[in-house]
This record gives sequence, structure tokens and C-alpha cells, in this order.
Amino acid sequence: PELILSGIQPTGSPHIGNFLGALSKWVSLQRTAHDSVTLLYPIVDLHALTIPRDPEQLKKSKIETAIVLLACGIDPARSYIFEQSRIPAHTELAWLFNCITPMGWLSRMTQWKLKLKTNSQFSEDEVLSFSGLCLGLFSYPVLQAADILLYKATHVPIGDDQVQHLELTRDIAQMFNKMYHQNVFPLPLSITTSAKRIMSLYDPSKKMSKSDPENTRINLSDPPTIIAEKIKKSTSDSLKYITYDPETRPAIANLVTIYATMQGITIDQVVAEHGKSDIKTFKDALTQVLVEKLSPIQEEIQRLRLEQGYVQQVLKNGAEKASMIAENNLDEIRSIVGLK
Ligand code: TYM
Repeated sequence: PELILSGIQPTGSPHIGNFLGALSKWVSLQRTAHDSVTLLYPIVDLHALTIPRDPEQLKKSKIETAIVLLACGIDPARSYIFEQSRIPAHTELAWLFNCITPMGWLSRMTQWKLKLKTNSQFSEDEVLSFSGLCLGLFSYPVLQAADILLYKATHVPIGDDQVQHLELTRDIAQMFNKMYHQNVFPLPLSITTSAKRIMSLYDPSKKMSKSDPENTRINLSDPPTIIAEKIKKSTSDSLKYITYDPETRPAIANLVTIYATMQGITIDQVVAEHGKSDIKTFKDALTQVLVEKLSPIQEEIQRLRLEQGYVQQVLKNGAEKASMIAENNLDEIRSIVGLK
């Protein structure tokens, strides 16, 4: 890799899906990537605005997200975290990409289709006129492509739900390169973890998501009593032992995956250790693992909440670094398309 970039939306507290699918990788890349590799982690506030947000809440969420990233182990001396909207080049490049991206590509995006489906009580005309599905939501993946290609990122550590957006990013990069007969953009590759798709605790056919009700996910900031309650109430089945079988026992398989990846052991090790446990015993053990692994992160979150000045400074430094790379690349792109 030459440049690694990945983003997170500042929408409420990050959950263990975000952590296991992406953030834990961002942290380990600080050790495993070569020193010459730049690591950029934007907090994507412009993406958050594709659905209505309370302004004060959005501001708070950005700081809280930065705090959680730092608490998870993002080292500001190695990685740059910054607010996406501080770098106007994201929006400018997104516009240039809007001008070359076929709408058909965007209509095929799973996340867009899911949004359409949740609004299926409306007719097509109604959906497009007042259901709250705005143009920004439709072109959301184009802004994401701009986030990535603005820095000529080569690798993007993400969960499974973002892989399709990265494929689109590659398509846009290729289209641009071909159109202007230049090799401007590298085609970025995804980096995924063994927990690239953590499912909802309530419905194991859906991914764990910030936009679903509280009890379907474990937030990194959940205290032990809440973790215990959410795990206790999570969907399970009536069998009296533990197996890993995503097809026939998706809910249990999800809990086994969470256990394994949180503890840093293999699925086989979990099954070897807990195969004979009943579900209640296993859930208690899982709760204990979660509480144990999240408590140092939570202590750090508490500490950093009192250090807002420091957190602001980290974001400012991150934006300065990002801005240098972005302005330089955008300059090149402006002249390629004839704006300069
Ligand atoms: P966001 O904020 O929804 O999620 C941040 C990261 O967490 C991963 N993730 C999951 N991984 C495993 N299981 C889950 N249940 C789960 N839920 C979320 C996501 O895949 C993501 O890696 N569109 C992006 C933000 C974005 C971005 C970018 C990412 C904007 N620009 C450029 C990469 C590069 C999003 O909404 O992530």
C-alpha cells in the first residue's frame, strides 16, 4: 500500500460492528503498514447530512466520534483523523465525478435500493417527491469515491457493507482515467477483517447498524449492565449447545463470531471451548469478554471527554495534513479537466 484511507459517519456512538469490521484494522495497520504509508481517517460529516440531522447534535457527534477513534487506539502521531467538510476539495471532486457517473450505476447500489424498499409504501412518484430520499443520498457513493480518490488512496479498510461502494469507486476511477487518457487515479483495493459483517442482535439477517433500535447493537460506550441485558435478550434458539453454523443457526454464529474476534481467537477455538455450554452460559461468557475488552476503551473515552481542547487540536492537525495532499491532487485534476 501507498496510502490508506477510510471514513466513518459521525452518527451516534460507534458499535462493535464498526469496531470489529473496520476500526480495529485501522489501529493494527499503524503497526503493520510501512512507515512510508500515510494513514487518513476522515469523519464524514457531509455524508451524515444525507439524512436530516440536528445541527448541535451533529457537532457533538463529530467530537464524540473523534474521541472514540482515539480511545480505540488511533495514534494521532501516526494516523490523521479530520473532519471531511474542513477540506472543500472533497465536494469539488464529488461534483466532477457527478458529471461522469451514470445514474444506472447508482441505482444498482444495495444501500440505495434498501432505502427505496423501506419507502415502498409510497408510489414511485411519491418516493421521489416527498419521502425524504434526496439527491445527496442517491449520489452518496460518488462523494465516497471522491473521499478516496482525492488522496489517490491505494487501500481502504472497510466492512462488507462498503465493498460495493469501493467497487463503484474503482469504476469511477477507471472511467475518469479513460476519459482523460491519463493514469491519474490508482484503483483502490479493500482490506477486510474476519468480522467484516457483524449482524444485528435482534435479526441475524440484517447487519448491525447505527440506524436500527438501541437493543440491536452493542455500542462501544455501553456500560456492563447494558451489555449484559442486550446480550441476554439477543435472538437465540432452543438448542442446548454451541456450534458455528451461519446457515442454520445465524444468530448463534454471529455471537460466536463476536466472541472470537473480540477475544482475538479463532471460531474453532470458541467452539472447542464452549461447544458443550448451554446458550445462557455462553451468553454470560460473551458478556464477560465484551465487558473486559471494552472497559479500557471506555476509560479512555471518559478521560478524553474532559480533553476537548486536545481533541480539537488533533482534528486541526489532521485537516492540515489532509489539506496539503488534497490541494496538490485537486490542482492536477483541475488542469486535466480544463478548469485551469
Ligand atoms: P459507517 O460509518 O456506516 O461505518 C464505519 C465502518 O464500519 C463498518 N461497519 C461494519 N463492519 C462490520 N459489521 C457491521 N455490522 C458494520 N457496520 C459498519 C463499515 O463498513 C465502515 O467501514 N460510507 C461509509 C463511510 C465512508 C467511507 C468513505 C468509508 C465515507 N467515505 C471512504 C471508506 C472510505 C459509512 O457509512 O461507514
